[in-house]
Amino acid sequence: MTMRPLRFLRRGRLVEIDSFHPRTTLLEWLRLEERSTGTKEGCAEGDCGACTVVLARLRRGQVVYHPVNACIMLLGQVDGAEVITIEDLAEGDSLHPVQSAMVENHASQCGFCTPGIVMSLFALSHSGKMLDRGSVTQSLAGNLCRCTGYRPIVEAALGACQGPVHDRFSATMQASAQVLAALDDDTNMFSGSEEVFFAAPRSEAFLAALIERYPEATLLGGGTDVGLWVTKDLRDLKQIIWLGRVNSLQEIEVHQDRLLLGAGVTLEEAMPSLGAIDPDLQTLMQRFGSTQIRTSGTVGGNIANGSPIGDLAPALIALGAVIELGRSGETRSIPLQDFFLAYRHQDRRTGEYLRALHIPLLSEGTHFRAFKISKRYEEDISSVLVAIRLTLLDGHIVDVRIACGGMAGTPRRATHVEQALLGQPIASSVTWKTAGDTLPNDFAPMDDHRASAKYRMQVARATLIKALAEIAGLPTENTRIYPRRERVAAHG
Ligand SMILES: Cc1cc2nc3c(=O)[nH]c(=O)nc-3n(C[C@H](O)[C@H](O)[C@H](O)COP(=O)(O)OP(=O)(O)OC[C@H]3O[C@@H](n4cnc5c(N)ncnc54)[C@H](O)[C@@H]3O)c2cc1C
Ligand code: FES
Ligand code: FES
Repeated sequence: MTMRPLRFLRRGRLVEIDSFHPRTTLLEWLRLEERSTGTKEGCAEGDCGACTVVLARLRRGQVVYHPVNACIMLLGQVDGAEVITIEDLAEGDSLHPVQSAMVENHASQCGFCTPGIVMSLFALSHSGKMLDRGSVTQSLAGNLCRCTGYRPIVEAALGACQGPVHDRFSATMQASAQVLAALDDDTNMFSGSEEVFFAAPRSEAFLAALIERYPEATLLGGGTDVGLWVTKDLRDLKQIIWLGRVNSLQEIEVHQDRLLLGAGVTLEEAMPSLGAIDPDLQTLMQRFGSTQIRTSGTVGGNIANGSPIGDLAPALIALGAVIELGRSGETRSIPLQDFFLAYRHQDRRTGEYLRALHIPLLSEGTHFRAFKISKRYEEDISSVLVAIRLTLLDGHIVDVRIACGGMAGTPRRATHVEQALLGQPIASSVTWKTAGDTLPNDFAPMDDHRASAKYRMQVARATLIKALAEIAGLPTENTRIYPRRERVAAHG
């Protein structure tokens, strides 16, 4: 088996690192090793965006530019990418168009947030997206500015990020694609010793072999949870196996009746196919963290972390998703709802890893709603999440699945409410009220710093009633921040 050191591109040259501590973050390497101090550290937990840098990678034959939080990204995760920082944008005395627009719009005061904001806008300028004020603010959800105010920053973005961007990155795109393709070979990366290492297997067989040999090793998806174990819990992770290079975990397949998402698919990549199932899933994904979090975080990581307030689990349980687990030479599939056994305790056997999620598509006559309740609209974890899939026949509920996050130690179904709803007429407000009144039979939520138990119960009840009323046909304009889009008829 061919092994090689960590390898990535930086300022036009290949960097190879034989030995590094597996818990080293990209930000530590940039600031302390390379001494590129333009990239700042603010919160060290993925929230403020001061540390934003861009990774260029080859994805399905195209060079893509992803903004990421260098503070919680581990150095080993840049394997195969080009690392672009604020120092790389200007050419001599000529500022990059994004930097010029920031100057012209007076979009910086103390300047601490500015490198991160410029890097987010640099990635946006290469995204090929059609921009308006809404999409720009969404792209900047992961960048906080505490003194300038966002209006001039948004003006700068609208000025500089529209249409094809002309910079040295676009001029050398083809050459970059070739170099990145050469880096993206079939070798396995392993840096360190048997006791302390960072490994990036290419094949699933080698991944399984590594997990079998090092059962205590930490599996790493995008690191948007694990990164905080390092920066906030100060955990001394000694053995890390990164899943980001295993191709078979990155698959997205749309079948007649289901969507398959590999566990390593990032939240950003998953968004279009989840959004095609139902517009509420699109909204949910847009509100998931920030662009930086979504371009790193994975579908599998969100499920495997077992958080009672993770966003995907309740939505996917309501849809009836099945989870596929792998272990050397074998796979096992279980309904997602059975995966969560108790608080942070999942049905994962020694040596198992998440392979994929199989998500049923919605059939004719089946309705779906998902509502995330959080203190901020974007870049915030749920206090409560309510998701419902409901099938109607002649105005009566003939099938229903409801799942909630934030209401118990695990994401869970509301089975008593489901029973109360079966056979009832959807158009009757008595049906909605009965559902709301039954909720305490299913959940006894906790008080914590995010929300009180009383608030959780009240908001879950109101949200459930709102979902039922919407499905019954009541107008939604007054109860939603943005109107619900129509569901597209066919998937994709
Ligand atoms: C600023 C910020 C905002 C956030 N916002 C949200 C939000 O809005 N909604 C939300 O739900 N979450 C949010 N999160 C939490 C986090 O981003 C998500 O849970 C994300 O999906 C985790 O995925 P990851 O790939 O980064 O996981 P990692 O950090 O890599 O791993 C998380 C856990 O899963 C395990 N793991 C990962 N992949 C696998 C696999 N294939 N098989 C077995 N185990 C695996 C790891 O060992 C670890 O225990 C946020 C986090 C931050 C820092
Ligand atoms: S330092 Fe705040 S997001 Fe990284
Ligand atoms: S310019 Fe000071 S924080 Fe943004």
